[in-house]
Amino acid sequence: MNYQMFSLQYCVISTFLLLSNCQNQILDVAKTQVWGPGLKPDDIVLPARYFFIHAIDNNGKKITSMTHINFQVSIDGYSKDGKCRSNINYIDREDGSVIVRYTIADFCEQVEISVKYNSSHVAQSPYYIQNKVYSERCYCPQNLDIWLLNNRCSDFLKEKQISWDLHLFKRVNFSAIRENILKRYNAPESISLCHYVVKQQQIWRKCFGKYTGFKMFMDATLSALARVVWLPEMEFYLNLGDWPLSRKGGQQRTSGPYPIFSWCGSDDSYDITLPTYDITESTLENMGRVMLDMLSVQQTDIPWDNKEEIGFFRGRDSRRERLKLIDLARKFPDLINASITNFFFFRNEEQKYGPRVPHISFMEFFRYKYQLNIDGAVAAYRLPYLLAGGSLVFKQESPYYEHFYSKLLPYKHYVPIKRDLSDIIEKIRWAKDNDIRAKEIALTARKFVEENLLPQHIYCYHMTLFKEWSNRLISPVKVLPDMEKLSLSYSCSCEKGQNRDEL
Ligand SMILES: *[C@@H]1O[C@H](CO)[C@@H](O)[C@H](O)[C@H]1NC(C)=O
Ligand SMILES: *[C@@H]1O[C@H](CO)[C@@H](O)[C@H](O)[C@H]1NC(C)=O
Ligand SMILES: *[C@@H]1O[C@H](CO)[C@@H](O)[C@H](O)[C@H]1NC(C)=O
Repeated sequence: MNYQMFSLQYCVISTFLLLSNCQNQILDVAKTQVWGPGLKPDDIVLPARYFFIHAIDNNGKKITSMTHINFQVSIDGYSKDGKCRSNINYIDREDGSVIVRYTIADFCEQVEISVKYNSSHVAQSPYYIQNKVYSERCYCPQNLDIWLLNNRCSDFLKEKQISWDLHLFKRVNFSAIRENILKRYNAPESISLCHYVVKQQQIWRKCFGKYTGFKMFMDATLSALARVVWLPEMEFYLNLGDWPLSRKGGQQRTSGPYPIFSWCGSDDSYDITLPTYDITESTLENMGRVMLDMLSVQQTDIPWDNKEEIGFFRGRDSRRERLKLIDLARKFPDLINASITNFFFFRNEEQKYGPRVPHISFMEFFRYKYQLNIDGAVAAYRLPYLLAGGSLVFKQESPYYEHFYSKLLPYKHYVPIKRDLSDIIEKIRWAKDNDIRAKEIALTARKFVEENLLPQHIYCYHMTLFKEWSNRLISPVKVLPDMEKLSLSYSCSCEKGQNRDEL
């Protein structure tokens, strides 16, 4: 192994003294760490493959200061038209680490991933990939259990939220409840839900309700999963609305709770939570249609010490506490910068709480050290991004949750604030007085994201939940006469390694 060291200049710029204090630190290419699913692209198929590089110095310590470390990555190999086509993107986290993500077109053989720094190989680079690498757009379904193994989803098999959500549904005779669920929830003006059936790798659905546009998210999800695994046979109702449906108590005490899949769960309902359409879409469209995703949001321009020590909020007027926050921001302008971007729910109070301000890019949020996460209609689906962004998250206590909240711990991953926001000022002051703790929580939050909320995990969660769900269905899964069949979208196929139009 070659063992070269390079000197790397880093500068700590103190905005206070306007002085620049530069020192030399030595980057050790052999000790520098490279890891992540993108180094196993033959096993782990994702819309964008990604891996991490963390610079290590000659004392074996992680380099953590603000740096622009120029790693060079190349993906070489052969496809049917000669050299592979790939697209590479670097996300500099300015903490000595970089996320590298890439896509390939169709398929690629004899792949070699090389990671270099100043023309010297880093860690175990070059990485030779044994098997053919296929684009996520290729139709290459694998056995689900093998897929779960290859994708290292074992942690998700003991996932607390999944076992909790399913604990009341050990044996589900769907034939016996299919009609009742519809009778109970079919209210076209207020409820939109879809019945999905997955059988023999075909996806069918029928939707009920006036506003069913959001079905496109589940269509895309099932279609993406079908490209990589043989889907388990199953059927379920998906709630397309914000609010969970299967309420605890009341009538249901006698009829038993009905299983309904929702993107948001709540303490007072039995809904089975799926990763939100938002984080799922950003997973499926990574390096594609979406600008903001769980990887790109980690691009940092402003290190912790240069962030403004103020609580920041932008959002719609979808909950009374968001307006209350405006009052607080007016009273404590040195502690809170909050504005409403759109008035809809409390339109008649726009005079009082306006003016509304234009949306700003999420990246601008992270100029501010403290991020205020206040519920909207239900849980605020921005929380994953806030946790990843490198600022400290203040989270309003809430009965609503996304699929991962049960793993979050107060003062470890975020600072809790009371539902009525009565302690928010006190908590922001606490953070200002305890900057080291605050920074530590922000770092732990990002670590949580790295272990739970990246594209690989979003795939694992869906697959694990669907597998478990399928196992619990005791009545035969049948396609009903008036269901619509989805056409699976893919641009190439594994079996012949050819483009679809050549099949
Ligand atoms: C890159 O390597 C060359 C020769 O190995 C060395 O002279 C140069 O200082 C290195 N540059 C950096 C930024 O480490
Ligand atoms: C499921 O329910 C249907 C209708 O109530 C019934 O006919 C059927 O026998 C049940 N199936 C099982 C496996 O219990
Ligand atoms: C509040 O944040 C906005 C958006 O970043 C910024 O333009 C504005 O100057 C901030 N207000 C204050 C008082 O700092």
